[in-house]
Amino acid sequence: MRTPLVIGNWKMNGTLASAPALASGVRVAAAQFAGVETAVCPPFLHLAAVHAAVADGPVALGVQNICDFAPGAYTGEIAAEMLADFGVRFVLVGHSERRALFGDTDARVLAKCRRAHAAGLTTVLCVGETLSERQEGRTETVIAGQIDALLEASDALSLLENLVIAYEPVWAIGTGETATPEQAQAVHHFIRTRLAGLSPVIANAMRVLYGGSVKPGNAAELFGMPDIDGGLIGGAALKAEDFIAICGAARARLASF
Ligand code: PGA
Repeated sequence: MRTPLVIGNWKMNGTLASAPALASGVRVAAAQFAGVETAVCPPFLHLAAVHAAVADGPVALGVQNICDFAPGAYTGEIAAEMLADFGVRFVLVGHSERRALFGDTDARVLAKCRRAHAAGLTTVLCVGETLSERQEGRTETVIAGQIDALLEASDALSLLENLVIAYEPVWAIGTGETATPEQAQAVHHFIRTRLAGLSPVIANAMRVLYGGSVKPGNAAELFGMPDIDGGLIGGAALKAEDFIAICGAARARLASF
């Protein structure tokens, strides 16, 4: 059984007061979810406050982005090594908002995976199709392209050691539209099959999270699917009680398999 994982992606939200308050709320409840891993990804500016709020507790620290270069003259950027030094465990790479708005191409995504791996961070590689790609019947082609950019790398096997995949259909992110459990399961199964082409052992062990308008009301049925190992949560991660309820649904998955 793969350990369920629920990660909160806070995106560009919160204040210096609200961020540690939210983290503390999650931390207090997370103790109930033995066997489920949880993490929160605040904005960089709130990382120190959140770090203090979750220190020595069950909630791990994550970030939403890293620089694709090693430390040096890169104004405004933050290196993977700095994050590892700070106690960060997870890094989101290839989120659709970064792919669409900030130039994160498959090549840059691969470079970021390499930087994260070299620093000992766990990469959460995000993939997903847009609405028009789905309507044109191209979902699997798009997902395959995004996954293969990693699988075809010469160092793919080592990069996969410390990696989680998040399937996030772009049309479901922040829209209130959720993929049905069957739609999500089909893509998760496709991803696992693709990984099995390289290594059946890795494919079986890989955690594949679902993201896209996961809420307390739909988490249990999504996490009830065989290949959905948890969630990457945006909007609902901004309310401690909602995020906690979603972690509870992941705990129920543990009990049911
Ligand atoms: P959402 O965001 O839960 O608000 O749809 C998910 C994500 O972007 O990771």
